[in-house]
Amino acid sequence: MLLTLDQTKEYIMDRTLVMIKPDANVTKIFLNILMIYLANFKIVLAKIVQMDKAMAEEFYKEHTERPFFKELVQQMTSGPTIILVLEGEDVVNRVRKINGATNPANADVGTIRQAFGTPNGGPKNAVHGSDSLKSAAREIAFFFPPDA
Ligand code: RTP
Ligand code: MG
Repeated sequence: MLLTLDQTKEYIMDRTLVMIKPDANVTKIFLNILMIYLANFKIVLAKIVQMDKAMAEEFYKEHTERPFFKELVQQMTSGPTIILVLEGEDVVNRVRKINGATNPANADVGTIRQAFGTPNGGPKNAVHGSDSLKSAAREIAFFFPPDA
């Protein structure tokens, strides 16, 4: 489901890709997370995707050799994921700060993963944020191909 469509518009602000992962959808807390992003950034594109195995493996291909890869793919295909493109100054770093540490057990109080992730839950850490502008460009094109 495409909520906004402005892919042809010129933009100067940085953009990043965020995912509200299946574990945060099944527990019906995605609206709380969505409101945090809305309060801090401009949401320029949004859709809901049910990833299949091939899609999740391709998205996370940099982690192919990691011990948690299979579990990560299983988790990401277990239900729908909300995909967001956020825009704002220094948005990549600010999103990662708001998301919190990868393992919710180590995430600071006030971060999304601390509030909504599963401590020591492996891939069940509620959200994803691109780790650089380069990754953001790849990940945005992955879900929103420019010629689609
Ligand atoms: P993300 O990409 O999701 O924003 O998270 P990140 O940069 O903090 O973490 P990354 O190293 O890129 O790992 C990607 C996702 O893999 C799962 N993971 N599980 N069981 C584990 O030790 C483990 N380590 C990572 C998490 O879902 C993480 O977000
Ligand atoms: Mg990462």
